Amino acid sequence: MLEELERIQTAGLADLEQATSEPLLEQWRVAHLGRSAPLMQVFDKFGSLAKEARPVIGKRANEVKRLLEARLAERASALHEQALVRALQSETLDVSLPGRPSQQGRLHPTTQTLRRIYEIFAEMGFQVYRSREIESDEYNFELLNIPAHHPARDMWDTFHTQTPGVLLRTHTSPGQIHSMREHAPNPVRVILPGMCFRYEQISARKEIQFNQVEGLAVGHEITFGDLKGTLTDFARRMFGDSVRTRFRASHFPFTEPSAEMDVECFICGGKGCNVCSHTGWLEILGCGMVHPVVLQNGGYDPAKFTGFAFGMGPERIAMLRHRIEDIRYFWSNDLRFLEQF
Ligand code: PHE
Repeated sequence: MLEELERIQTAGLADLEQATSEPLLEQWRVAHLGRSAPLMQVFDKFGSLAKEARPVIGKRANEVKRLLEARLAERASALHEQALVRALQSETLDVSLPGRPSQQGRLHPTTQTLRRIYEIFAEMGFQVYRSREIESDEYNFELLNIPAHHPARDMWDTFHTQTPGVLLRTHTSPGQIHSMREHAPNPVRVILPGMCFRYEQISARKEIQFNQVEGLAVGHEITFGDLKGTLTDFARRMFGDSVRTRFRASHFPFTEPSAEMDVECFICGGKGCNVCSHTGWLEILGCGMVHPVVLQNGGYDPAKFTGFAFGMGPERIAMLRHRIEDIRYFWSNDLRFLEQF
């Protein structure tokens, strides 16, 4: 029996030399230390041995088993180490490679322009006042001094809903009435930004939806000089200190007198180019002194209060700032366009 244990040990150690990979080592473990390995059979036969032989055989069998187990563990960790070294050599990690850039989102060009407009007017004490996009005929037209069937309605091609008298606002001016009715008889100084809708043939210059920023100041002794000063200062802050502006007489039913403000074409510097249609000027907004009828509709006594109002198109301003040639880019959701801002 002792000789057999010697053979088991010699064979086990010799075979171990051949176990050069982790799967081969596992095969070796099954063959030499598994349930049906010769060594385990020695333990099985233990009961049938002569009593005096048992301690000697038992001691030796345990020694062989511990030796084989210890060599197995050594071999396993050596193989593991080798695998690690091979992996490190073959899968080299180049820490000097540039990382993958993370995509950053950005603000839509209209949003950027709107925020600049809010900033400028905030510095002049104007608060943002939001009002609804779906309006009644009364607010969009009548209270703004545009009665039904008045020819001035032709200035605003309107989307009507199936509910009579309910429409998509064609301009932000109905917000003037909402904010006046909320604040009267206190003074008001607000800007009213938001989406407007017109039933238009879509083209490079016309869209069926666009933003406007309305402005309204109502108080005591507000003059046309205040209107000119505010809007001239706005143009300087928006387009640069040296920009020149001019006011041309115009007509809106809800302001009297009414005007349109032009800024000197900053593309050609006033010399005339195709952006300014060779006039040297770019029209950016409509404005005027709030009509007495509108003041009254807003809840103010026109004998005691005066005010000015204006309305501008931020998409148009963004087009001028960035020389965008087609207004349809704003809603076409094309990343090639959006990523330029
Ligand atoms: N609401 C006018 C438009 O849409 C612009 C405007 C606003 C003019 C306020 C004068 C005063 O054309």
